[in-house]
Amino acid sequence: MMTAVHPMPRRGRFTAGMLLGLSFFAGAAQASDDGSIKAGREAAQSCASCHGDKGNSNNPAFPSLAGQPAKYVAAQLTAYRDGERENAIMSGQASGLSDQQIEDIAAYYAAQERKVASPAGEGSELGADLYHQGRDEVAACAACHHSEGHGNQPAGFPALRGLSADYVAQSLKGYRSGDRDHGQAEIMIPLAADLSDEEIDALAAHIASLD
Ligand code: HEC
Ligand code: HEC
Repeated sequence: MMTAVHPMPRRGRFTAGMLLGLSFFAGAAQASDDGSIKAGREAAQSCASCHGDKGNSNNPAFPSLAGQPAKYVAAQLTAYRDGERENAIMSGQASGLSDQQIEDIAAYYAAQERKVASPAGEGSELGADLYHQGRDEVAACAACHHSEGHGNQPAGFPALRGLSADYVAQSLKGYRSGDRDHGQAEIMIPLAADLSDEEIDALAAHIASLD
């Protein structure tokens, strides 16, 4: 009853929920530490033409992989391979990978330093506000993805800095439509379900401006 009159406690409720979520996921964190960085470096040689040297991409169409949580990269590669995440290029790239190669590649990228060469654009005030504060029904992105977009390796929450606005908007729409429903997507789906196109574009512009 009290929360209906005060906006702040509502926001507090989301934060508390997220902290609970964080400690839960941190507990289950070390799941994919079975990969070999050295073997992963070999297996990832063919990926550099698109994803860049050591996973730092210079092309907005290809997401950077450097510094992404191993658990996140492994889940995405498995989903491309098994047809759960649809993308013509990546399903071809992942089709021949064994589970062990996926673990190795994920360990390799997780160990690389993420570098953002040139953040794009001037960002968005609405996007920055949503990112840091959230709103009713939309938890603050910063709570999980870090205020500067570094993500959270132990929890498996991906880094967002260095991703292009187009790619971020496409990812958010994938969660909103439910097309991306594998891995830990159940965390993103309810958040994205409530976002308008305008909010998605604003968030994407803010994220693309992070350096
Ligand atoms: C010809 C270009 C190309 C090559 C080569 C390529 N990728 Fe990709 N990769 C892409 C594109 C485009 C996307 C975005 C696909 C989408 O929208 O789902 C992507 C997405 C990914 C993602 C998901 C990233 C995220 O943030 O969710 C991972 C992981 C990935 N690639 C790993 C690899 C690995 C490992 C290899 C080498 C075995 C590889 N890629 C080779 C183009 C490429
Ligand atoms: C409670 C934690 C949490 C919050 C809050 C959260 N995210 Fe996420 N986010 C995740 C997780 C976990 C994933 C990986 C989901 C998966 O496995 O596909 C993710 C994935 C993403 C991706 C996909 C990245 C890629 O490389 O394709 C984007 C973009 C994203 N989140 C943006 C946001 C934005 C914008 C907000 C705020 C409106 C937000 N997230 C709030 C946990 C969170």
